[in-house]
Amino acid sequence: MTNNKPFEPVIIGFTCNWCSYRAADLAGTSRTKYAPNIRLLRLMCSGRLDPTFVFKALANGADGVMITGCHPGECHYLEQNYKALRRFQLMRRTLEGLGVDPRRVKLVWASAAEGAKFAQEVTSFVEEVRALGPLNWGAGENGRVAEYQSTPQEALA
Ligand code: FES
Repeated sequence: MTNNKPFEPVIIGFTCNWCSYRAADLAGTSRTKYAPNIRLLRLMCSGRLDPTFVFKALANGADGVMITGCHPGECHYLEQNYKALRRFQLMRRTLEGLGVDPRRVKLVWASAAEGAKFAQEVTSFVEEVRALGPLNWGAGENGRVAEYQSTPQEALA
């Protein structure tokens, strides 16, 4: 049996409570349209992002991961977004070593006032991942891909 449904990338978005989550909120309240493929998970700061969250997301069915945080110099926890930046660079190198295209992980800075920018970044990332095709990393492992698409928080637990 063949599946003729067009590929719709599943994107996990990690947001910072103080800026990018509010940017997403602003995009919503301003009715700015963006691709519905992203599932947002809120952290208190991008510096809280453990790289295992990203690897788990990809292994459990996500096709791409977008990490977002406050602009450099504007982190509410001083310099934690610089830590996120360093981790992001390491994650991309690690993914490349594992044979995964590093373009599947993206880092975006967005302030609470940048709802339109947030929406535009999501939409462009969805199209970039769509061009890369499905990842299927870890697919077949007890059907976790299908499970992940319905309950991302559970799959990350
Ligand atoms: Fe937003 Fe640190 S508080 S990135």
